[in-house]
Parts: sequence; structure tokens; C-alpha cells
Amino acid sequence: MEKQMHCRTLILGAGAAGMMAAAHAGPDVIVIDHAKRPGEKIRISGGGRCNFTNYRVEPERFLGSNPHFHKSALARYTQWDFLDLVQRHGIAWHEKTLGQLFCDGKATQIIEMLQTEMNTAGAKLWLETGLTGVRHVDGCFVLNLTFNGENIELTSENLILATGGKSVPKMGATGLAYDIARQFGHAVTEIRPGLVPFTFEKRFADISGISTNVLARNARASFEEALLFTHRGLSGPAALQLSSYWREGEEISVNLFPGMDFAGILRAARQDRGRRSLKTELGAHLPGRLVDFLSRAMDLGGNLADLSDARIASLADALQRWQLKPGGTEGYRTAEVTLGGVDTDGLDSRTMMSKNLPGLYVIGEAVDVTGWLGGYNFQWAWSSGVAAGRAI
Ligand code: FDA
Repeated sequence: MEKQMHCRTLILGAGAAGMMAAAHAGPDVIVIDHAKRPGEKIRISGGGRCNFTNYRVEPERFLGSNPHFHKSALARYTQWDFLDLVQRHGIAWHEKTLGQLFCDGKATQIIEMLQTEMNTAGAKLWLETGLTGVRHVDGCFVLNLTFNGENIELTSENLILATGGKSVPKMGATGLAYDIARQFGHAVTEIRPGLVPFTFEKRFADISGISTNVLARNARASFEEALLFTHRGLSGPAALQLSSYWREGEEISVNLFPGMDFAGILRAARQDRGRRSLKTELGAHLPGRLVDFLSRAMDLGGNLADLSDARIASLADALQRWQLKPGGTEGYRTAEVTLGGVDTDGLDSRTMMSKNLPGLYVIGEAVDVTGWLGGYNFQWAWSSGVAAGRAI
């Protein structure tokens, strides 16, 4: 026998966006999640310190089919609003680099803060809850749930889809929001892993663990950040950022001396210290193991005095336009985000409400809006969550 229940607003997913929406959605809200704990991705984010927003939230730092869609929500609940909330809860924070704001302590402080906000708003949280079906009947959503060993048929006037994307299935990620959105007539754009390490056939195993500042780019984007060589390929912020702009089969270009006229530096070094070996000179700019690695792939023999202008030019070209072709990426297993999602054409950008079905909302990573690395994805979760919550 199914127990019958009703609430005004049901939120599917107790992650960043769902908890934020619950804190703003007014009375009679239930948040359900299949996980044992809420906000699991917040807990592991930012190396356990949660990079919760960024000083420099700008619309250009988000990807999506419609480059304008995210502007409204981001403008109406900004990084300053979230920072204010963090400060009101007495959470100590710091800027790490490039405007990225982290907790001084643990990421769990952000989860506790969101739970406190939800409790203050009177929202209920049901964990370890399974959803077996959803339909829309007579202006209400009808959800079949299993919670605490009971089968429940719950009706709600509003349904917010906040189950995130497909990245890191080990942490409970599923494509549920896409399936429900499709069921209710929404299009879902092509989805793929983003902010994900590149893989290369054993190529960098010898230098795994080495990190160096580079400019990594392709035809669509460029990022000057740290590049990390790994057993599997390339990681670190530069690779992760570029991966969101990369397509299967394409090459990427790595400049090992970003912002430098490296040919000019070599010519000056040839004049000042011609007896120095080329490898020693490169070692002044790059980690020694990386120089050894490069010397196995290209001729780095001889002293600076031996270098002709033409050789200097070709060396600088090879090291500042190092063309690499990733075999692929590590995929959803390690991707920080999912690119693509519920098509924004079907959603109102002010409220995140469905244009087809009043009362249905989609927020957070499930939407076709993806931020850069650096706190942008959480800011989207906070902003889109508040937009939906306030609209209800
Ligand atoms: P989120 O994934 O947070 O929440 C979805 C919720 O829905 C989860 O609680 C899940 O259990 C639940 N759910 C899923 N399927 C369900 C189903 N079928 N039934 C019931 N419940 C279901 N971003 C950033 O800005 N700064 C950072 O430091 C990091 N760091 C980071 C590290 C790692 C390792 C990852 C994987 C990701 C990040 N991110 C990040 C990205 C960030 O975590 C992500 O963009 C947000 O958590 C998205 O918030 P959502 O609420 O949309 O989904």
C-alpha cells in the first residue's frame, strides 16, 4: 500500500544547487537524494577546501549553446552575495590564485552552512530515497518514491531538477535530470566530460608528477596555468581548462615559455654565456627531468655558442608550439563537470522554469551551462538555485 503525501515543492538532488534552491523556495519543501549524505561533491571539492566561488565571475567564463542564458541568474545572485553568506556563517576563507576563493578549513563547512539555511527555511531532507517514477497529472507532479522502507506517492506543485551531471558516477552521479527533462518534452544537448585530464599512450610516464607553467591552447581557447604530467597523460589546471574546449582527434599546442621571447632569450644567453650547454640553459627555465625528457625527443646537444640563429628559431618554435595529440580524456570517471545538458532554449533564464511545463525547473550542472575551473561551477549552482527558489 502506497502512502500518499503532498508538498508544495519537491527538489530532486541535495547537491550544491538543490540545497541552495531549498533555502530560497519558501514553505513546504522536500529535498530528496539517493545518497547517504547531502553535498558529496562539495565535500571533495577543491582538495577538501571547496573553491566555492571566484572574484572574477564573468559570463565569458561559461560554456553553453546560448552564451547569454546564464547572465541573468549570475547577475541577480553574485559571487559577492555568496561570499556574504559565507561570512555571515563565520566561515574563514582566502583567495588562492586567479580570484579563486577557498575555505581556510574544510569544505564540510559549506555543506553545514547550506543545511542550516535549509533548516531555517523549514525544508525537509530525505536521503537514501529512490525514485521509481514521475508523471504530471492535473497540474501536479506525481512521484513514486521509496523512503525509509516505505513506498510513497508524493504529489507536488513544483518540481526542481537538481541532480547534476554525469561526472564521477562513483559519487552517485546519474543522468536522471536529463531523462526527466526529456520525458517532459525538453531537448538535451550533446553531453561530454569537461575539466578532465587528457590521456596519452604512456607518453609522459617518465616525467609523471612534474608540473610547469605553460600556455595551453587550441583554436577555441587558451589558458596560462600549471600543466601536470601524469602516468596517464596531462592534467593540472591548464589541461583541465582546455579539455572543455577540445574535441576528439584534435591537437593541442603547449607553450613551455609563456609570455617570453624565448628565441631572444637564447640569443642573449649565447652572447653572455656561450660556453654554457643548451640543456643547462633550459634547466634554468624548466624542471630538469622535463629537459631530460625533451632531449630524448629533440636534439638539445651542444653549447649555446654552437647555436645558429636558424637553430634558435626552430628550437623556440618547437618549445613554444609543442603540438600534442591526446588519445582521449579520462572521461566521466574523473571529469569535474559535464558539458552540455538540458537545452536552455526550453528554460526561462530569470527563473530557470520550463517554458513547456509551468512548475518544472532545472538548475545547476544539469543545465547546458558549464563554468571554467576555479569556483565558477559552484557559483552557477548557487545562482541558478537561488533563481528557481525565489521564483517559486
Ligand atoms: P551535484 O552533483 O552537486 O548534486 C547532485 C545531487 O543529485 C547529488 O547529491 C546526487 O547524489 C543527487 N542525484 C544524482 N542522481 C540522482 C538520482 N538518480 N536520484 C536521487 N538523487 C540523485 N566546482 C567548483 O566550482 N569548485 C570546485 O572546487 C570544484 N571541485 C570539484 C571537484 C571534483 C572532484 C568534482 C567532481 C567536481 C568539482 N566541482 C567544483 C564541480 C561542482 O562539484 C559541480 O559543478 C556542482 O556540484 C554541481 O552542483 P549540482 O547541485 O548541479 O550537482
